[in-house]
Amino acid sequence: MSEQLDTQVLLAIAEQVVRRASAMALAGQQRDLQVQTKANRNDLVTRVDKDIEEFVAAELTSRTGYPVLGEEGHGVDSFAGRVWVVDPIDGTMNYVETRRDYAVSLALVSDGQPLIGVVADVVAGRLYSAVRGHGATCHPDEHDWTRSDVGGPATEPGRSTEELAQVPSDKGFRDSIIITDLKEIRAMPRLVAALVESRGHRRYGSAALECIEVASGRAGAFVHLWVSPWDIAAAMVICAEAGVTVTRLDGTPLDVRHKGSILAGAPRAHAELLARLVSDPTH
Ligand code: IPD
Ligand code: CA
Ligand code: CA
Ligand code: CA
Repeated sequence: MSEQLDTQVLLAIAEQVVRRASAMALAGQQRDLQVQTKANRNDLVTRVDKDIEEFVAAELTSRTGYPVLGEEGHGVDSFAGRVWVVDPIDGTMNYVETRRDYAVSLALVSDGQPLIGVVADVVAGRLYSAVRGHGATCHPDEHDWTRSDVGGPATEPGRSTEELAQVPSDKGFRDSIIITDLKEIRAMPRLVAALVESRGHRRYGSAALECIEVASGRAGAFVHLWVSPWDIAAAMVICAEAGVTVTRLDGTPLDVRHKGSILAGAPRAHAELLARLVSDPTH
């Protein structure tokens, strides 16, 4: 298979595969999930996580020839060249318990740099996509994920496409919602002080969707201590194309090939939070 497949062709393949995976996730909720635990009692995997990853890996391997890294077992020897990175369900706890706020996340990473990102907010019916250097879009009306055919989504009746606007560059963290979890709050007293000064905090339970909240301008920042490549590789492209600054919590560049922390924020909110959380010794 050619290394030179055009990015627009690859985007169309990625969107089609994510739409089909989203249909599988919704249909899967009607059947026995066969929930199992992994590292601890709240680290869940279902039959549907595994089935979606198998489906996505088989499709992408046969259609592009690029290797696939996935949370539920697909590994790669290296990140050299082009590698697909899939989280079949991001937010498995939500998938099992709240039955909403979970995502299918698929990225194409080229020599370690995310190139294409597609994230489906499955229950909300929204598909977010971006190609590095070409902006980010949202298909907001994906009420029927089984309509997955490649080609002209913007022109198909009932399927609309919106460009994602650039996030505000001048809005500070004090005027923003900040997304973070209890474990970050417990670990970082400076974060508690910042949250108290902010508009408030939220938590949705899917790192990909939490990044998307920032990229869509609905939150000012997302703070997480420990994300994996499949959690954020796709959302990082969407964030970058929407003007969101993404780094580690110490301000260093985020390399999606490795697990670690993330601070994603609108530019001013990101800079202020970084100063508050890391560099300012008075806080
Ligand atoms: C998890 C979710 C969750 C985050 C965890 C991730 P999973 O992914 O993104 O929001 O806090 O760190 O592992 O396991 O549901 O794919
Ligand atoms: Ca998991
Ligand atoms: Ca995940
Ligand atoms: Ca997962």
